[in-house]
Amino acid sequence: MKNIEKYIDNMDITMEAPVSEPERQYYFIKKARNYVRQASEEAGRPLTFCVTTFGCQMNARDSEKLVGVLEQIGYQEEPNEDKADFVIYNTCTVRENANMRVYGRLGQLKRAKKNNPHMMIGLCGCMMQEPHVVEKLKTSYKHVDLIFGTHNIYKFAELIVTRYESNRMVIDIWKDTDKIVEDLPSERKFSFKSGVNIMFGCNNFCSYCIVPYVRGRERSRNPKDIIREIEKLVADGVVEVMLLGQNVNSYGKNLEEPMTFAELLREIEKIEGLERIRFMTSHPKDLSDELIEVMRTSKKICKHLHLPVQSGSTEILKKMNRRYTKEQYLELVRKIKTAIPDISLTTDIIVGFPGETEEDFLDTMDVVKQIRYDSAFTFIYSKRTGTPAAAMENQIPEDVVKNRFDRLLKEVQDISAEVCSVHEGTVQSVLVESMNEHDDTLVTGRMSNNLLVHFKGDASLIGQIVNVHLKECKGFYYLGEMQ
Ligand code: 5AD
Ligand code: SF4
Repeated sequence: MKNIEKYIDNMDITMEAPVSEPERQYYFIKKARNYVRQASEEAGRPLTFCVTTFGCQMNARDSEKLVGVLEQIGYQEEPNEDKADFVIYNTCTVRENANMRVYGRLGQLKRAKKNNPHMMIGLCGCMMQEPHVVEKLKTSYKHVDLIFGTHNIYKFAELIVTRYESNRMVIDIWKDTDKIVEDLPSERKFSFKSGVNIMFGCNNFCSYCIVPYVRGRERSRNPKDIIREIEKLVADGVVEVMLLGQNVNSYGKNLEEPMTFAELLREIEKIEGLERIRFMTSHPKDLSDELIEVMRTSKKICKHLHLPVQSGSTEILKKMNRRYTKEQYLELVRKIKTAIPDISLTTDIIVGFPGETEEDFLDTMDVVKQIRYDSAFTFIYSKRTGTPAAAMENQIPEDVVKNRFDRLLKEVQDISAEVCSVHEGTVQSVLVESMNEHDDTLVTGRMSNNLLVHFKGDASLIGQIVNVHLKECKGFYYLGEMQ
């Protein structure tokens, strides 16, 4: 960050903006500083921002980039949205209910904006990539100041300047991009761990999923850029990274010099000072033996694999365009568990996909019972306009879906409590993440397998990896004692 600041300070904003990135954004950051300073002098106080993130880890990482720019241009963070001058929603559109929440909250902001002349509202993220959403915002939510999408988030500073200079709603959405801009400011939520994008977009086109339409085609970052970013993070105190991509198992296929995800992991493993490596998300169809081998022998890769199954029925998997069968998935898990017996497995499951029969659903229950996931995210199928599944016949009635969902959830939770408790009495290495929310004599840490444990300790432990004796399992977490 220090280096970036130096570059920004050296920009000459009396000249035309540079064409190349990231210099162009450094120029606009410096320019935006002037506008923010003026506005804050008018207000007689520092201006504040509040970024709310919906959706996945990818969005969480994007939000850190937004915060990085906002802090660079002179806004201060305000956790309470009601008091903030610049309110930003980084949206998700993977299921319909996420969209409804955004509209609801936007409605409430209208009144706040009337009372605060310095207030700005920005919307970005996946939902903004859907043309019908932007149409609706333009006609019914005229109090929004700034709308941009997933492909041009790097232009945030430039868009803020445009907003200050034009004084009207600024909309900039790109359909797709092959551009990856490096070296932008970003402000980490945690000092000791960080998400790191290794690829963007998705080429899989699962028939229920809107992601390929809103995040564009698959593009891998250059391995050198990834390693350089992680090295810098480690120098800045980070001990754990989460490598992010919609389908990390197909990393590197479209690079000029192709490289596999397993090879990338081997390189990252070599980074001195880095203690833990996680990654998300793995598509079962692309999970290689090479990756299992790297995970088995690695000292740093965490013993946790998120492997979305989506459905246990081969018939439904085919309609979902997942490109594996129930048997192939079970075989893959068997291979993984044989190689790495203490691995924690988690998954995503969708209930009520079009055409799902009771028999199909029982196949899903069967997979859950056989695999015994450490935890599973269960979702009710949500129809996303524009995806192939939205046009499929035989959408399942709500009451049938709800009934199946409840049965699945109960099974998943019962198994998960049992699986979680097997570690009782063991000593685990734990990364301390925070003070406990309810008891300030306790800290909360995360084990390699992603489970949480609470134990006596103080804030000085945050960011450290310590050994903890797991005394008592409380369902989905542990109470422990530091060794
Ligand atoms: N309806 C319900 N769940 C969905 N997911 C993706 N698209 C949909 C949809 N249309 C779930 C999948 C995915 C997770 C991130 O969200 O399970 O793995
Ligand atoms: Fe993440 Fe997908 Fe939601 Fe976008 S639509 S935030 S990629 S889960």
